[in-house]
Amino acid sequence: MKVAIILGTRPEIIKMAPIIYELKKRKIIFYIIHTGQHYSYNMDKIFFEQLQLPKPKYKLEVGSANQGMQTGKIIERIEKVLIKDKPDIILVQGDTNSVLGGAIAAKKLGIKIGHVEAGLRSFDDTMPEETNRILADHCSDFLFAPTKTSQNNLVKEGIDKKKIFVTGNTIVDSVKKNLENSFNGLLEKYNIKEKEYFLVSIHRQENVDNKKRFESIIKGLKLIAKKYKIPVIYPIHPRSEKMARKFKISLDGLNVIKPIDYFSFLNLEKNAKLVLTDSGGVQEECCIVKTPCITLRDNTERPETVTVKANIVSGTNPRNIIKCVNKMLKSKQSWLNPFGNGNTSKKIVDIMRSNL
Ligand code: UD1
Ligand code: UDP
Repeated sequence: MKVAIILGTRPEIIKMAPIIYELKKRKIIFYIIHTGQHYSYNMDKIFFEQLQLPKPKYKLEVGSANQGMQTGKIIERIEKVLIKDKPDIILVQGDTNSVLGGAIAAKKLGIKIGHVEAGLRSFDDTMPEETNRILADHCSDFLFAPTKTSQNNLVKEGIDKKKIFVTGNTIVDSVKKNLENSFNGLLEKYNIKEKEYFLVSIHRQENVDNKKRFESIIKGLKLIAKKYKIPVIYPIHPRSEKMARKFKISLDGLNVIKPIDYFSFLNLEKNAKLVLTDSGGVQEECCIVKTPCITLRDNTERPETVTVKANIVSGTNPRNIIKCVNKMLKSKQSWLNPFGNGNTSKKIVDIMRSNL
């Protein structure tokens, strides 16, 4: 069995890492195709170094562009390397343009596709990620659904149940492995105390590319900083940094820092009083490390986190954000993590092994 791992962005590197370790451990032949969708050091290479991942065999360097052009470049460049170096299966993870591009290129060449984190649905088709998820799922031969909820979404869309495997999410494997490595000295570095700061992560296109929504979120964050009188730490995604500059949105009053490494971010998540985010992976991680979470969106494709009461979807209205923070801080933090017990990567490799 020869496996090609296709990835391109920060969350894909983090969530594919456990599968890469498992393939390596079992001496299965694999290689990485990096689309280059993310390329800044602190969005890309920092994770390869910290997680000690093998260098990509192919670096396609597609870079940033509009949706169609970026996806088009990804398809074109992946197709070339798949023809040259035909794997038995490609693995894609999540819902980015790299996932969609990889799935389309492989499908047209008749190469098997495994979709890790299949079946998530926000039911909001204005999100580019929702289109990517649906199309990638419908191209795939192995759909690794994290939960029964995601399995049901796929079945409802008519996907053959035999192709769907409920495996949990590799983010649990990743958190389990890396929380131990979590970076000490971080609280001193940022001059903060355990459970006495908020952590923020906002980058979603529908939030930060929309001036009104972005302004409203920032207003909410500033109100929280004022009300609770504790720091709001915001490692800012390059998209958000660019858009805040473009819209002239002042971030004064928030502790804005550059995107940080994974061990540090996990540590900040674990020790935060509460996390405010629109990130997918961060909603899951908070649920795993037992830090309450507010999702600054109108919907989530991770409803399991809301069902277990680890997360509230607040929208972007400042007053509602504050209300949700108050509510969440009063609630018990005794939920169970719905994404598995950390052996997802092992299950995925077992399934590929016995079916190929
Ligand atoms: C992408 C994914 C999103 C995922 C996110 C993870 C799609 C449609 N979106 O969004 O689902 O949650 O990655 O972080 O695939 N930029 C840099 N350096 C980089 C990468 C990006 O400066 O290394 C800046 C560029 O100005 C670029 C912008 O960020 O135009 C957006 O990057 P892009 O990859 O298009 O989308 P993300 O917002 O990162
Ligand atoms: N993350 C990180 N450093 C940061 C911000 C986030 O390592 O400064 C990690 C975080 O722990 C999670 C992942 O990046 O595992 C989430 O990525 P992102 O929010 O970019 O994408 P999404 O999950 O929304 O697709």
